[in-house]
Amino acid sequence: MARFTIAELAAWKKAGKRWAMLTSYDSITASIFDDAGIPVLLVGDSAGNNFLGEENTIPVTTDELIPLARAVVNGSSKALVVADFPFGSYEISKEQALQTGIRFLKESKCHAVKLEGGVRVIEQIKALITYGIPVMGHIGMTPQSVNAFGGFKVQGRNESAETVLADAIALEKAGCFAIVLEMVPAELAERITKSISIPTIGIGAGPKCDAQVLVWNDMMGLTEKAPRFARKYRNLRQEMSAAVREWIGDVESGAFPGESETFH
Ligand code: KIV
Repeated sequence: MARFTIAELAAWKKAGKRWAMLTSYDSITASIFDDAGIPVLLVGDSAGNNFLGEENTIPVTTDELIPLARAVVNGSSKALVVADFPFGSYEISKEQALQTGIRFLKESKCHAVKLEGGVRVIEQIKALITYGIPVMGHIGMTPQSVNAFGGFKVQGRNESAETVLADAIALEKAGCFAIVLEMVPAELAERITKSISIPTIGIGAGPKCDAQVLVWNDMMGLTEKAPRFARKYRNLRQEMSAAVREWIGDVESGAFPGESETFH
């Protein structure tokens, strides 16, 4: 089977078919999620807190994210792989954004890129699309602006709702193929979803978006303190900790390795 395409995502919007996007930062999780049927894998700059042990996404660099995106492409065969532009890799000019986009596509073989911001990054987005680099937008609570927002706070309440809607319309007009809506009121997400013809992908944006995205470490229960909007489907932190404790015990007691794990 060939990889999922942007054209399929557009057709799903028209048909009212909902879909799921999941983050991945390595080839093994990519292959598991790909086999399970996830159509879009996001190599998020959330690798900052979920892989590199940083406090947030701000310190992540292009050099750090490209190898992770390459691993996700290599580990998957059906998913469309989208890589995040790290903070500082696109804001300065359309030339800077193009250089970053070209590096991502050539060095990681990802199929599209995602960058944060609406009207303020429209020139960058137009340049990327002109040169054949598909772009996913990301508005609302954009984590690279956490310092400006004063924390991870819901965006687009009251009069600022109009700014978020205007950003969404500008992103569609510029040619984005989808838009992530992060931590915005469900009513605003629904309004945006009905106002534009490209898919909206919600994270903490209520049930009316065309698609939903989660950070895989949150949904699997690996993260110690996951955000309120992230449903925990398993408790892998507990499972893995129990397995490691069991193995330590087996090593200490001499029960590991056994005869079947031993060569003669
Ligand atoms: O970096 C990331 O994982 C993201 C998602 C939360 C949308 O941008």
